Amino acid sequence: MQQTLAPSLTSAWIDAWNDGDVATFRKVVTDDYARVSRSTGTSHTLEQIQEDISAIRSGFPDLTTRIDSVVEGEDQAVIFWTSVGTHTEAFLGVPPTGRRVETRGCNHVRLADGRIQREEVTWDSSELLHALGVRHLSDAAPQATDVVVDDLSGEPDPDVMKTFNRQFVTGVTVVTTRDGETPKGLAVNAYASVSLEPPLVMVCVQKTSSTYPALFSGTHLGINILGTDQRDTVATFASKTADKFADLDWHAGPHGSPLIDGSPACIEAEIRERFQAKTHTVFICRVRHAEVSEASPIVYKAGRFFDSDDLQPL
Ligand SMILES: Cc1cc2nc3c(=O)[nH]c(=O)nc-3n(C[C@H](O)[C@H](O)[C@H](O)COP(=O)(O)O)c2cc1C
Repeated sequence: MQQTLAPSLTSAWIDAWNDGDVATFRKVVTDDYARVSRSTGTSHTLEQIQEDISAIRSGFPDLTTRIDSVVEGEDQAVIFWTSVGTHTEAFLGVPPTGRRVETRGCNHVRLADGRIQREEVTWDSSELLHALGVRHLSDAAPQATDVVVDDLSGEPDPDVMKTFNRQFVTGVTVVTTRDGETPKGLAVNAYASVSLEPPLVMVCVQKTSSTYPALFSGTHLGINILGTDQRDTVATFASKTADKFADLDWHAGPHGSPLIDGSPACIEAEIRERFQAKTHTVFICRVRHAEVSEASPIVYKAGRFFDSDDLQPL
């Protein structure tokens, strides 16, 4: 893949956030540079960013930011970053908590003549607010000190959720995306149809997945429902194999998402929301394209796979 983001750009970017001084950063951006928040739609100039950085650093004076990874394309890149700091002054209306918190985001950077012209920031302030004690979706996840879940015997059983999940029968999908020209994907059974009107679906993906950075930065994703004769494909996509598409026939959907040939059904959907839930991200997507065949879907129950043609009607 073409390298677009010079080290001088990333170091000026990181210095601006770590030192609170945009002087060096000024040299690597275009005159019409703008930083746009994808959550609020607000657009800020370089001067306003100086104020934004100062505001954040006043809440977290020891704030340090690091770049976790950079996904590069032609004249554009996505920077995945993590900031860590101690909350010693009021921030976003939350009084100082003294908590040391971590927040993550990603910036879609567009380049013009080797300089940064535009940054689109995807940052979930509610995740940071949650870390400061403000309610967030991740409240669903257990805290270290919680009794995990009580089962019917009244005894706390850390494995009860696993037992519960083993009683839930699902199909298996492969969720796909592209990292540049490279197709990527992973096996996912955390799929659900959200609504028919509008046609919304959701998938839930672990942030440690190697597919996750490309999935997160994409505009669309593919969801392939796997069939009874695709047992090997399930195994491939549940693994960390480098090129999972090497022995596979697939085609691109209208927006480029890999759709696996021979699957009982495939959709391509536009990513509309990315909800952070601690270790996972819930993607809410609007379906844009669908392909359905007569092939029988594979069934997944309690860690095993079954043939849906063998099911007995009740
Ligand atoms: C039946 C099955 C269902 C799975 N469902 C999910 C899921 O819903 N979300 C998820 O993040 N991982 C799920 N996984 C695990 C991933 O497929 C697995 O961690 C994979 O190795 C990730 O690959 P990657 O790191 O290359 O993206 C599932 C695995 C299996 C076998």
